[in-house]
Amino acid sequence: MNNIILCGFMGCGKSTIGKSAAKKTGRHFVDMDEYIEKQAGKTVAEIFAECGEEGFRELEHEACTELSKKRNLIVATGGGALTFKRNVEVFRGTDTIVLLDVPLRIIRLRLRNDKKRPLLQRPDRDKVITELYNSRMPKYLAAADVVVKGESTPLKTTNSLIEALNLRK
Ligand code: S3P
Repeated sequence: MNNIILCGFMGCGKSTIGKSAAKKTGRHFVDMDEYIEKQAGKTVAEIFAECGEEGFRELEHEACTELSKKRNLIVATGGGALTFKRNVEVFRGTDTIVLLDVPLRIIRLRLRNDKKRPLLQRPDRDKVITELYNSRMPKYLAAADVVVKGESTPLKTTNSLIEALNLRK
């Protein structure tokens, strides 16, 4: 079975929904940031601090390429991954790309106390989130084969994903 690649903005629930959908459908779940951390032996924050965002994007592209060669996965990508054409191209045609679509106002609430994501550790967090969200959303929409609304409870969103993709429960 081909892979399901979840994309969407930070805080849209890719990891939570991916994990529960994998459990319900007997697929393997991979969190791409955790995969990168394992390969690099460093946290995402450490990679950003030591190699800059550009260094992180290189490792992220390698992760996309490696994961696209596997099968039967549900992959939670990082929020930036599918905004790059080269990463979309790696998955397109073989895997199913799904956008978890959550409105900006909910994303802002969910990310309000985040201490982990390097891109958000700045005083103008709300402005950064709004600008990034508005510039990224068209890219996610262009990349996605399927769009699933992600503002409801994890259980409902997981079931919507399973139904939208007609996955076996
Ligand atoms: C990023 C999102 C993060 C992580 C990194 C960069 C982004 O993943 O990959 O901090 O550019 O949006 P989540 O979407 O899981 O937070």
